[in-house]
Amino acid sequence: MTLLAAATAVRDRAYAPYSRFKVGAAIRAASGAIYSGCNVENVAYPEGTCAEAGAIAAMVAAGETVIAEVLVIADSPAPVPPCGGCRQKIAEFAAQDVGVTLCTTDGASLRMSVADLLPGVFAAAHMVRT
Ligand code: THU
Repeated sequence: MTLLAAATAVRDRAYAPYSRFKVGAAIRAASGAIYSGCNVENVAYPEGTCAEAGAIAAMVAAGETVIAEVLVIADSPAPVPPCGGCRQKIAEFAAQDVGVTLCTTDGASLRMSVADLLPGVFAAAHMVRT
């Protein structure tokens, strides 16, 4: 299964009754396994939980903490970039050169790196004074 196939399949299961904007995300982790997630909204917090966060949660729940590649897909006019919170969540588990491919359901795609998405990322090293 490719990341595109996994993200496309899980996007169909998104629960987005408030935004009507379904998003699918798939991660290839260090083991080679693929973890996927969709956005899940709720009436109190209509922005809900992003697809990327869902895929990361599935990866961590399976015992993995290293992201090798990410792909996100949505039905938008241009490839939709992850929100700020998701950029930090991805950066927690991915090296700066890890690829994040943003896709539309029409077939457009844009490949970025984690560093492109979150330059100057706050990391654990910033809390250590030597
Ligand atoms: N959303 C994602 O799941 N991932 C993104 O990268 C952008 C936005 C979701 C959150 C919310 O359910 C809906 O899209 C509209 O913001």
